Amino acid sequence: MSSSVTLTPPPSPVPDGFRLHTENSSHILISENEAFLNPVQEFNRDLSVACIRTWSEELNELKQKRRAQAKEKRALKAKEGSARKRQRVNESDATAVEPESLKTSTEPLQAGKAIGGKATLIRSETRLIDFASQEKSEYKITILEALSATGLRSIRYVLANDLSPTAVIAMKRNVELNGFGPEKEEEEESARKVNPNLGKVKVNEGDACALMYSHRTDRVDVVDLDPYGTAAPFIDAAVQAVKDEGLLCITCTDLSILATNNYPEKCFSNYGGLPLKAEYSHEAALRLVLHAVSTSASRYGRYIEPLVSLSIDFYVRLFIRVNSSPFQVKKALTKTSSYFVCTSCQSFYEQPLGRVIEKQGSGESVNTIYKTQPGPTVGSKCLECDSSLHIAGPMWSGPIHDTDFVSRVLQHTEANKDHYGTAARMQGMLTVAKEELHTTFYFTPTKIAGFFHCQTPSLEETTSALLHAGQQVSRSHASPGSLKTTGTCEDVMDVFRSWVKKHPIKNVSETSPALRLLAKEPRTEANFSKHPKSVTSSSKFKIVRYPETPANWGPGSRPATGGGNKRKRKHDN
Ligand SMILES: C[S@@+](CC[C@H](N)C(=O)[O-])C[C@H]1O[C@@H](n2cnc3c(N)ncnc32)[C@H](O)[C@@H]1O
Ligand SMILES: [Zn+2]
Repeated sequence: MSSSVTLTPPPSPVPDGFRLHTENSSHILISENEAFLNPVQEFNRDLSVACIRTWSEELNELKQKRRAQAKEKRALKAKEGSARKRQRVNESDATAVEPESLKTSTEPLQAGKAIGGKATLIRSETRLIDFASQEKSEYKITILEALSATGLRSIRYVLANDLSPTAVIAMKRNVELNGFGPEKEEEEESARKVNPNLGKVKVNEGDACALMYSHRTDRVDVVDLDPYGTAAPFIDAAVQAVKDEGLLCITCTDLSILATNNYPEKCFSNYGGLPLKAEYSHEAALRLVLHAVSTSASRYGRYIEPLVSLSIDFYVRLFIRVNSSPFQVKKALTKTSSYFVCTSCQSFYEQPLGRVIEKQGSGESVNTIYKTQPGPTVGSKCLECDSSLHIAGPMWSGPIHDTDFVSRVLQHTEANKDHYGTAARMQGMLTVAKEELHTTFYFTPTKIAGFFHCQTPSLEETTSALLHAGQQVSRSHASPGSLKTTGTCEDVMDVFRSWVKKHPIKNVSETSPALRLLAKEPRTEANFSKHPKSVTSSSKFKIVRYPETPANWGPGSRPATGGGNKRKRKHDN
């Protein structure tokens, strides 16, 4: 796909007191102290454009399909009606009547309505999003970016609210700079002829929740939350502001809360679940955010479908479809689990919260009954090393990605490489995410070998041993050198127990957990010879997928009020 967007040239010279930041087709002027901008998050912004674009294409296809079906139905009805009428005419010899007109079926799709009053948000169209070649009948979407800061993201696809007056000033300036500024009412028609993008970006100064709650009945297609730290205070409003089939995009940068067990009380109050301490804590972070969104949505008869959930550098970014269905809401219970996690060898034991029983009703009907799960699923000690266990969750235990959706985003990215400054990394990460198994958590051979105090088997050897044992294996996007498997923790530990038999360990103290791990015999002897499926295409993306830590790495901080934009906080909450 080629771009036909005319880029607005950057201002020259750059005004005093500002510096110019250009990201793909967008330019912004940044004044020190003014509004938050983290250039390290360019990847987040690129990914967001690609996901929203892909989601909007899917939605458009769905709407076109529904329109075609409705048209077909109407045509059939009209045909039947006219056949009946002909029959009546023949029977009663009455005057012939014309068949019902089908003209309503050719009406264009309802365009995205302008929402809110003048001062409020926001009407956008995917056509704004750096891509200009869309058909007229395309469904137009409304996007609410609740926490916009400089408006950089908005300029490329959304439009734009912030609580901070300085951020709003910056946003307005940047919106104007990129040719999306407000059209003057008296010039509306003529100005639009010159620049059809005028007026498509609207800026609002206000509290994100107040704005989102004001859209509970007049919902928008996409809500994007990109806060400092946690998105938790905005989730309740966001799940109510988004339409059915709509998209909720969420960033959280508070990984010191979500992905360590330093602040369990804070994690519980923000997300309704406990974090865990293990190398897979970043996947747990994604699952805790999904749990918070799912439980909030359930309260309003809505359910979630995670499309893409990624752990990236110092934050998590999730793209979640929201829909309404009392039947699906009930299923949320069966997609929620707590986990008992070994404090020593990181083995985990799932404790699902609920189960569903299907009973044959009368005729063909099936009754579904929900029950609590029996438990506990494990005793008080780890079955692999006899250490104590900690509880984590409850958290989302269903799939964290929709594989088909990830494939489509990947295809879109490959076809539009020139639009994205971080295309190579996007391809790498999306390729891994596409291949990821829908199982919970991952491990790295290095870490497990550390528990055994043994030499580390290569990824290929570990993968091959699991594949030979009949398990499936994939990588995880969340950590370099990580593996996911359909096997249990015991299956993984058995691979290492077999490995140690071939590569004996020396000088281990009698109190070492390694000896407790080795006290159990492996149930089968692992086969480490190369399995034909041990290399997946995502392995090729290693360098791009797991890049060096960039300069100025970190979530950044709120702009200083009194001068300087130093990053004061080590983490956000
Ligand atoms: C991390 S920045 C957003 C960055 C931006 N999305 C981007 O990609 O460049 C968070 C912004 O949220 C704003 N904010 C914080 N609390 C808010 C609230 N309750 N309502 C609206 N905006 C808020 C802050 O002023 C800040 O500009
Ligand atoms: Zn253990």
